[in-house]
Amino acid sequence: RMIMKESKTIGVMVPDITNPFFSTLVRGIEDVLYQDNFIPMLCNIDKDYMKENNALEELSRRGVDGFIIATSAISNEDIDLFLRKNDHPFIILDQKSFEEESDTIGTDDFTGGELAANHLKELGHKKVVVIVPHKMTTNINRRFEGFMSIYGDDATVISTALSKQGGKDSVSEIVKTPATAVFAINDELAFGLYLGFREIGKRVPEDYSVIGYDNIEMSEYVTPALTTVAQPIVELGQTAAEMLLTRIKDPKLAWQHTKLPVKLIKRFSTTHA
Ligand code: RIB
Repeated sequence: RMIMKESKTIGVMVPDITNPFFSTLVRGIEDVLYQDNFIPMLCNIDKDYMKENNALEELSRRGVDGFIIATSAISNEDIDLFLRKNDHPFIILDQKSFEEESDTIGTDDFTGGELAANHLKELGHKKVVVIVPHKMTTNINRRFEGFMSIYGDDATVISTALSKQGGKDSVSEIVKTPATAVFAINDELAFGLYLGFREIGKRVPEDYSVIGYDNIEMSEYVTPALTTVAQPIVELGQTAAEMLLTRIKDPKLAWQHTKLPVKLIKRFSTTHA
């Protein structure tokens, strides 16, 4: 096969660069690429299948040395067509589910969901709401299942857009339920809940306990500081980049699989029922 000159660029595909989870992830990726004199070529994909296809084609036309993919629209067929068949090294993470024939890195989403549920249980919350996006990606679904494995029928599920606005919008539904606590499946949703509750004169945590997920930096700065389940976001980006660079240097290496732990961060948005 043709020997190509290294371009020293890596295609990085994320769903939503305005979500601090993904900008922090990219920060971690960039840290590691920089050490090795690589630079990222960043594509914001939304949840748009056509945009994702286009990004794959254009990035490979521009001769990137590898791909880091955190988006969910890509199908296994596309991975085969654009990446595997062309011997393009890649690593997929977060919103894209694990592939067998590739390096993978993830966090323990099921455990994260359980941690959130157990925390609310211990505080005595009997009825809760869980806020999820309209279309659950595999990682978010595992988180959801971990939570539901503990709350089951005592949880009302509300689906909305995965954004601050989505969180705010779901408040009108939450108040119709008997819930005293809410699990927002990411921190952005939790921030939206704060505003929504404030607008109708409800207090966090006195009226509703709120727990988020991700531990983006802002969660420590909002009032009340947000109780959340932390993903090691920077480390996730760094490790993904390290694994990809290792793969580029040594294409014959056995597939590497890494799972990073999550942990509960107790702050002030949750309290006793
Ligand atoms: O905030 C973005 C969320 O979607 C995160 O929880 C991350 O895991 C992603 O899939």
